[in-house]
Amino acid sequence: MAQQTIVLGISGGIAAYKAPELIRQLIGSGYRVIPVLTSAATHFVTNATLTAVSGEKVRQTLWDEDAERAMGHIELARVADAIVIAPATANVIAKITYGIADDLLTTIYAATQAPVLLAPAMNQEMYRHYPTQRNLRQLRERGVQIVGPNSGDQACGETGPGRMSEPHEIVTAVEAVLAHSSTPSPDVRGSAEGINVLVTAGPTRERIDPVRYLTNASSGRQGFAVASAARAIGAEVTLISGPVSLDTPPGVHRIDVESAAEMHEAVHDRLGNCDVMFAVAAVADYKPSTSHDEKIKKSQKATEEQWSLELEETVDVVASVTKLEHRPFMVGFAAETNDVLQHAREKRLRKKLDVIVVNDVSDRTIGFDSFENRVTLIHDCGEVEIPYANKDVIAERIVRETFGLLTRERKHSELNGSTH
Ligand SMILES: Cc1cc2nc3c(=O)[nH]c(=O)nc-3n(C[C@H](O)[C@H](O)[C@H](O)COP(=O)(O)O)c2cc1C
Repeated sequence: MAQQTIVLGISGGIAAYKAPELIRQLIGSGYRVIPVLTSAATHFVTNATLTAVSGEKVRQTLWDEDAERAMGHIELARVADAIVIAPATANVIAKITYGIADDLLTTIYAATQAPVLLAPAMNQEMYRHYPTQRNLRQLRERGVQIVGPNSGDQACGETGPGRMSEPHEIVTAVEAVLAHSSTPSPDVRGSAEGINVLVTAGPTRERIDPVRYLTNASSGRQGFAVASAARAIGAEVTLISGPVSLDTPPGVHRIDVESAAEMHEAVHDRLGNCDVMFAVAAVADYKPSTSHDEKIKKSQKATEEQWSLELEETVDVVASVTKLEHRPFMVGFAAETNDVLQHAREKRLRKKLDVIVVNDVSDRTIGFDSFENRVTLIHDCGEVEIPYANKDVIAERIVRETFGLLTRERKHSELNGSTH
């Protein structure tokens, strides 16, 4: 494989002293590293050291006439297979969150399509500072990978979160980002062209009255990531989403619904030419037996202390699809808290799913409403564990495994003269 290029942004934090060692380790892992310094970073690490360890001209200013004759900042944005900013100061994190591009590093960030990885490093109060946390959250939602920070003793004499991850941790994160880069490698790009995919995502809302409803903690992130991953390799993707606050992935056709009944209807309206359905939505199992047109008043309660709500089962969207004679290849999702694999295996058979993807939601760091996940994919021929990773990375693996199984299933059907 051709050597990959990392544009390493170094911003003005004390942890910049670790940058030469990080460069050494990245080069040791086979990457070309081009250092880009902010002006504050020059107070912490010298050009001479960085040039010596990287073997590259260190870039520092937008106003380098030689480089800018060839539009150097755009060239660096294009040439990068990944942009790594380590250390990432509170300041640089804020600037890239808001699209400020007033120096070379932030301009490269604004102009790149490459995956971006940040290693935040700062005083623990700065790290806990609400705007810093909000900015990091927003960047994560936009697909930026964040590694660290670690907790411990800090250069300022305080103790807490804010220490930059160690160089070897950053190298591992870079390798993971590049292995699962959202820009598909040439071997899979376009491999799903002609395949029609339906994805359901998010929670549903079951109305009690105009202001109250029953719902669950699904954020929709995993379903949106699956839609995006399928689109990235060329599939035609329709995404049917419950109420979420996420942007529609580029090139994906989105339909918004609210209740389980609406999701059922939207799915069946679009099953016509569907080859694969990923049922990622957390559809409510129960809904209020009566939905009131007007807000229920406190005075309407049965007794002073209690108010009972009568529930009835909602329509089972997945079962309604798998029982069809001409059904798509079905991938269902399960969130379990105990005997995770056993329950998922049983559910796959009971619901007649081709594949079930299960995660353990008793672990609060993954699954519902988090950015990361760890899942097991169970199908007829075996089980595949997809280790802890960002939901985008998990989605790519799920989509690739599924299309691999679909191809095998189609070959098998052709040999046996049957269709799914
Ligand atoms: C001695 C010293 C250490 C600093 N360490 C950090 C740090 O670790 N993290 C951080 O976010 N800012 C740190 N700062 C503040 C930044 O240098 C400052 O916000 C600067 O504007 C960052 O510019 P840049 O983001 O363009 O590199 C430090 C400042 C000084 C003087």
